[in-house]
Amino acid sequence: MKLGRNDACWCKSGKKYKSCHMAFDERIESYARLGHIVPPHHIIKTPQQIEGMREAGKINTELLDIITDTIQEGMSTQDIDDIVVKYTKEHGAICAPYGYEGYPKSCCTSINEVVCHGIPDPNRILKSGDIINVDVTTIYNGFYADASRMYCIGDVKPEDEKLVRVTKECLDLGVAAVKPWGFIGDIGAVIGKYAHDNGFSVVRDIGGHGVGIEFHEEPYVCHVGVENTDMLIVPGMTFTIEPMINVGTYEVYQDEDDGWTIYTDDHKNSAQWEYTLAVTEDGVEILTH
Ligand code: MF3
Ligand code: CO
Ligand code: CO
Repeated sequence: MKLGRNDACWCKSGKKYKSCHMAFDERIESYARLGHIVPPHHIIKTPQQIEGMREAGKINTELLDIITDTIQEGMSTQDIDDIVVKYTKEHGAICAPYGYEGYPKSCCTSINEVVCHGIPDPNRILKSGDIINVDVTTIYNGFYADASRMYCIGDVKPEDEKLVRVTKECLDLGVAAVKPWGFIGDIGAVIGKYAHDNGFSVVRDIGGHGVGIEFHEEPYVCHVGVENTDMLIVPGMTFTIEPMINVGTYEVYQDEDDGWTIYTDDHKNSAQWEYTLAVTEDGVEILTH
């Protein structure tokens, strides 16, 4: 159904369409006519929704800061989950992973050859040489914020230190590639090139995602890509970038027993960093890091 100039705008601003999103929609429509994939309205957030995500993001970032300050050799991954549960509860928020499609814990802890979705476990004690990703997603007032960081425990091999560093640089390059009226493919283009130039591979089967009102929304953000392809990026879109970069093959598989843990096929190490972003009129805002 096409809105008339004097109808109320779809964004619920209360303004007339012609003085709100009409020119914006016409600009999107011009890309669609050229054959580009364009975002549906329901993934474009209002300023109020972005403010809600900003608040969720603040809690999520503070939680990761606490993990940064406390994580150490000798802790179990269950201890990390306990910190996540306690902090989130104290701040009136909810851990999105808990019960998500049956997921049994409140964060993901992915060590060494585990790519992502590692399940916290009281028997898995952090030891010197481990590289671990801790991924937390907070829901506050119904809004989601999703981020993860890597930690090097004790003495880590130079190759793994490089993997962790290059993966963070991949994320930063991906963020810098996000521009309103650019394309999702621009992100994977820069990440893929940088990872490959450094001798690493990029996981393809799992990627970033729209986020905010739900845990996983459109678009899928592939970390390998081609410039000027995939979905058009417009102001108000919110999504994660979360490159998973591997020392060996990019191929991965899922643990058949727990149904969650994702491993590299060759059991060589993998690293990941994740931010949630909001696209602004002239760039990008990091909502949680
Ligand atoms: N936080 C993960 C992501 O970045 C998703 C974890 S789903 C879970 O998309 F159920 F495993 F928690
Ligand atoms: Co995510
Ligand atoms: Co995440």
